[in-house]
Amino acid sequence: MTVAAAKKSGNGKPSSKHNIEAVRQAFYERIAKHDMTPLWKVMSSIISKEPVSRCVPVIWHYDDVKSLVMESGGLISTEEAKRRVLILENPALRGESRATNTLFAGIQMILPGEIAPAHRHAAAAIRFVLDGEGAYTAVEGEKAFMSPGDFVITANWAPHDHGNTSKKPMLWLDVLDVPTVNFFETSFTENFDEPTQETTRKDGDSLAFYGSGVLPDGTAAMNHTPVINYTYARTRPIVARMLQSGDIDRRHGARVRYANPVTGGPVLPTMSAWLAMLPKGFRGEPYRSTDGTVFACAEGRGTTNVDGKVLEWGPRDVFVVPSWKPYFHTAAEQSVLFSISDRPAQQALGIWREAK
Ligand SMILES: [Fe+2]
Repeated sequence: MTVAAAKKSGNGKPSSKHNIEAVRQAFYERIAKHDMTPLWKVMSSIISKEPVSRCVPVIWHYDDVKSLVMESGGLISTEEAKRRVLILENPALRGESRATNTLFAGIQMILPGEIAPAHRHAAAAIRFVLDGEGAYTAVEGEKAFMSPGDFVITANWAPHDHGNTSKKPMLWLDVLDVPTVNFFETSFTENFDEPTQETTRKDGDSLAFYGSGVLPDGTAAMNHTPVINYTYARTRPIVARMLQSGDIDRRHGARVRYANPVTGGPVLPTMSAWLAMLPKGFRGEPYRSTDGTVFACAEGRGTTNVDGKVLEWGPRDVFVVPSWKPYFHTAAEQSVLFSISDRPAQQALGIWREAK
């Protein structure tokens, strides 16, 4: 029986609920052979009333992470691995190499004397340094030596290599827009013949040239920041000063956004980052936004309550707040939180929202 026939039977209405359901099911099976499916069966799940994140709130405690990452150092060299990274996978997205729906996160370690060879890729990356002192990342001709709390930028297609000339292991948080790039199916990678790139600029040149309220004359705007390393030594005193002056956001604490100093825009077109100092005893007001966010604790101790789940964090812990989940921070002692999300990508598309 066709749908039309079912409708015309009897008093013009479907002869019975059972019959019309059977007819519909037969129709769905027939159109499936043509790779088609009815929108009305999936409408509410693909066009939801509000964001429904596939992610869950999660925290990785540094004590666990460090011992496991150190163990990986005995299993594989950086030369063999190219990048010795343990991926932080959201428990709800296991096997997908991502911490949020759009962001990759991992802990990278480089041992004394090792070199992570030069390459570049369409995905943009940042490093937030957790542990160690004196390893470097060379990016676009600048060799940046890193210290805990430093925020290092590797823009889309920027050649980069890492080396550890210090005597201690160096660990940092990598965050990349890999899932975003792969969503668009635009991944490219290129390895270089030479393991390290020629550097022409001194450590700190880009921060001095572009991040000091002046710009080299004739600087043209780019869609990513020209600063390679936003050092903790420069940024921490700014949020401390904001805290002292009472410039404290009731939700986020004394917080700065890392900016492209040429345009004032985000550091990367796909990712934006912040550094916040929370005073001792801080209890933030609830907040939510559509950008799922990766946090790293640089200093202090506190909690983040994510939709009723309490994440207890301390130094170097990394945690995730999914899209649109309400959250608030508390700080048991003065604390510093780094955070990063895909907000600029959402804003460029006109789909970003926030709410209390
Ligand atoms: Fe890379």
